Amino acid sequence: MSIADAPAIPPLTPPRRVLLGPGPSPVDDRVLRSMAAPLVGHLDPLFVRTMDEVQVLLRYVFETNNRLTIPVSGTGSAGMEAAVANLLEPGEEIVICINGYFGERMHEMALRAGAIPVRVECEWGGPVDLDKARAAWRASNARVLFAVQAETSTGVLQPLAPLREIVDERDGFLIVDAVTSIGAHSIGVDRNRVDACYAGTQKALSCPPGLAPVTFSDRAVRKIQSRQTPVRSWYLDTNLLTAYWGDGGGGQRAYHHTAPISMNYALHESLRLVAEEGLEARARRHQRNHLALVAGLEAMGLSMLVAPENRLWTLNTVRIPDGVDDLAVRKQLLEEFDIEVGGGLGVFKGKIWRIGLMGAGSTENNVLLLLAALEKCLKGQGYRPLGSGVSAAADYYAGA
Ligand SMILES: Cc1ncc(COP(=O)(O)O)c(C=O)c1O
Repeated sequence: MSIADAPAIPPLTPPRRVLLGPGPSPVDDRVLRSMAAPLVGHLDPLFVRTMDEVQVLLRYVFETNNRLTIPVSGTGSAGMEAAVANLLEPGEEIVICINGYFGERMHEMALRAGAIPVRVECEWGGPVDLDKARAAWRASNARVLFAVQAETSTGVLQPLAPLREIVDERDGFLIVDAVTSIGAHSIGVDRNRVDACYAGTQKALSCPPGLAPVTFSDRAVRKIQSRQTPVRSWYLDTNLLTAYWGDGGGGQRAYHHTAPISMNYALHESLRLVAEEGLEARARRHQRNHLALVAGLEAMGLSMLVAPENRLWTLNTVRIPDGVDDLAVRKQLLEEFDIEVGGGLGVFKGKIWRIGLMGAGSTENNVLLLLAALEKCLKGQGYRPLGSGVSAAADYYAGA
């Protein structure tokens, strides 16, 4: 073929998968339709209004009055990088609580920001060891501590209040990863006095991946504004981003980069859906479907990785029974039932499945479908379920 021949590539026809993995999650048709709306310019009055409304809606889901609350252009990792790049100066220490894969990623990012990470090694599958975190905080000169509220690699929910107590020992700053909690578990940015929090769109907000909501407390903004060195990332510098997104005061907007217009339409619509449902009702829905799924999995004789009091409602980690082929089951779920579930990461590779019930994916239908499909796949692998997962989940729903 000569280089001049135009490639004849057929159009894409993506299947409608039931996305029950670690993200992305299923997207409501209202959100998909919003992405097909006509484009306007990135400083068009309509887009400026969109930006303002997205900020209002994000403050609602983060539970904050922080003025600096915006979606960074990029996926959750861009929000992560925005938090470290802005809050830390080269040579500054940061205490990083590592109880899963995303703590490791933060360690890597802190290094690249020129910071000095102080690692708090905790067991994967449990919450942060608070004694270790406190000891590391006391032994270091760090002013910033990082933890993941919803560790997607393990399915663990991290309580934030005890971490705040630790950083309060010397007026420190708390960075929280809320990628897999936002829109399902309460983050309470103001209540927990979180100084920098970032999230992603593709989990319980049920929007496609592509934006990273972030929020910074006023004292975090003051720390950023009094930096001795410029923020190492031009793209993620919140001082420059604020000039584009506005400071809530209705002033002039200056071009920084061309915002992904359609993604912001999508986030706007997905946040409207969250507001229509209400944060508390949404949390209850996630909890209810999580509990029904666990009832079903346990009735089949499967065991959950995480202790009940530490479990996420958005991401359920279940141990793969001995003799069952991880990949074969996930392949069958995908090919026969169009269901995606996730495999284990890091130390849990091949040992667990990660079942996401996030946003529009957290439904009674999906729980019952997954349990029925999984039962069939497990039987095909020679595993004899103890009892019926579907019946146990149905009983749970009947009583809940
Ligand atoms: C807890 C957590 N933090 C950060 C990220 C990174 O987000 P992204 O993959 O959207 O860049 C993820 C992605 O799954 C995550 O689960």
